[in-house]
Amino acid sequence: MKYLIGNWKMNLTIKESIVLASKITKEIKERTKNLTVAVCPSFVSLSEVSKIIKKSPIILGAQDIFWEETGAFTGEVSARELKETGVQYVIIGHSERRHVIGESDEVVARKMQQALHSGLRPILCVGETLAERNNGVAERVVGHQLRTVFESISELSAKKMLIAYEPVWAIGTGNPCTPDDALSMLVLIRKMIAEKFGDVKIPILYGGSTDDRNVISYAEVGYDGALVGGSSLHARTFLQMKDQLLV
Ligand code: PGA
Repeated sequence: MKYLIGNWKMNLTIKESIVLASKITKEIKERTKNLTVAVCPSFVSLSEVSKIIKKSPIILGAQDIFWEETGAFTGEVSARELKETGVQYVIIGHSERRHVIGESDEVVARKMQQALHSGLRPILCVGETLAERNNGVAERVVGHQLRTVFESISELSAKKMLIAYEPVWAIGTGNPCTPDDALSMLVLIRKMIAEKFGDVKIPILYGGSTDDRNVISYAEVGYDGALVGGSSLHARTFLQMKDQLLV
């Protein structure tokens, strides 16, 4: 099974989200065994997008979640609220949350626990900055990001998660990681999964400046699909990426 997940970030208004969701839904009618397609609009657009994709095989995802179930946490959104809008997947630990908002590996781990506990499928994002890569510590950084989460979840719940390797320097820059470098990280991630959870199968996606021309090269080295930012905002490109991954 391959995955194509669109992360719309903070780019679209509710109206614009409705337009994009409608365009994509028109072209994706059939559920296929080989490919899962999901879109992750901003919180305010979830309900409207949910209505549009309801009868299609497209899955609804959110871009974040809070680590507590309910209570006095002004500005935060809970798993319970998300599920009511039809959300099934949730992106956790995206590099923009780690680096712009300042989320630590520990915060990410708490959010992962909450998502898994609530029955949402988390997409755990990991990835190094350019400075970390240049200093030769990319694998150490990603290793720590993964370990913090792996140590806080059970093997049973690990089965529900997805992992997205997204080098920070490749996100939104038009400068994607080479498939060879992405492969080295894929090998590390697989090794860590095997050491901690044995033969549990966790889908691993690549993210960072993917488009309809390069998405297949990550699948070819063994990635199970892509987490897509900029290219997911253009229906035609996103649909072409879907066609590429379906082949
Ligand atoms: P990008 O973003 O495809 O625009 O590089 C990927 C992401 O942030 O998930």
